[in-house]
Amino acid sequence: MPPQAAAPVPARSSAAHSSAGPTSPTSPTGPTGPTSPAAATATGLCKVYGRGETRTVALDSVSVEFGRGQFTAIMGPSGSGKSTLMHCMAGLDSVSAGSARIGDTELSALNDRQLTRLRRDSVGFVFQAFNLLPTLTASENITLPMDIAGRKPDRRWLDTVVSTVGLAGRLDHRPAQLSGGQQQRVAVARALASRPEIIFADEPTGNLDSGAGAEILAFLRYSVRELGQTVVMVTHDPTAAGYADRVVFLADGRLTDELDAPTPEGVLDRMRRFDAKARTS
Ligand SMILES: Nc1ncnc2c1ncn2[C@@H]1O[C@H](COP(=O)(O)OP(=O)(O)OP(=O)(O)O)[C@@H](O)[C@H]1O
Ligand SMILES: [Mg+2]
Repeated sequence: MPPQAAAPVPARSSAAHSSAGPTSPTSPTGPTGPTSPAAATATGLCKVYGRGETRTVALDSVSVEFGRGQFTAIMGPSGSGKSTLMHCMAGLDSVSAGSARIGDTELSALNDRQLTRLRRDSVGFVFQAFNLLPTLTASENITLPMDIAGRKPDRRWLDTVVSTVGLAGRLDHRPAQLSGGQQQRVAVARALASRPEIIFADEPTGNLDSGAGAEILAFLRYSVRELGQTVVMVTHDPTAAGYADRVVFLADGRLTDELDAPTPEGVLDRMRRFDAKARTS
């Protein structure tokens, strides 16, 4: 599945790239205010689960921006808060304190209906476990969120997504008739199908062999570079992180470091340094 083979499609928004830059925390919000250069922003984000003896601080005042048209990887040890951060940023979980914004929209200011609509229209989420409906075909799974919303898919875009992820011959298959890699590609295609503002992918290659994983990663990078998509991806794999434009590192619910233009070697080196620090502290 060479991503380059996809039909040429106009970039999502050329302004998306040119407007990248630091965002002001005091910038006006709302539909008429200037658009934030960040696709998603966390400011002092805290998430606490449980209370008393079971109290767990999953996120401890995390501030981070995910730039438009950027591919960001989130890394960190198991339990460091990576999935929690993605869930809070995608409006799938509430925050305990601080702020989570998609574009200029403050998620905690939305009621349930508004939040559902924002998740449906602006956010694509690739779950690690695929979350495909077994009774629907690949094609039906891909368009399900739009079908629920009563929206007609953009055929040309959909054809591009399907041919780029290499699913054209599998559209009438049900998940059980697809390999793990093909199911993962359906999940990625579903997240991309409606061209959301931002795609969050929680270990999208975690269960794949390196060949299938490389296909998904190449496609995600292609969608960012060529189509202006914004992608935030959790991964444990330095090679996968090497596809991203930037890596942010979490430890114990805090943002500890970041790396621009990462290479697998650079990421590995940074991870080794964390390990050494953890052992000596
Ligand atoms: N629903 C929940 N209820 C209570 N605690 C939770 C819940 N979800 C997560 N946690 C706790 O919050 C912390 C962060 O969890 P999270 O799932 O975000 O970690 P992670 O970095 O994604 O880990 P992994 O790499 O293993 O997926 C962990 O200590 C976890 O036990
Ligand atoms: Mg996780």
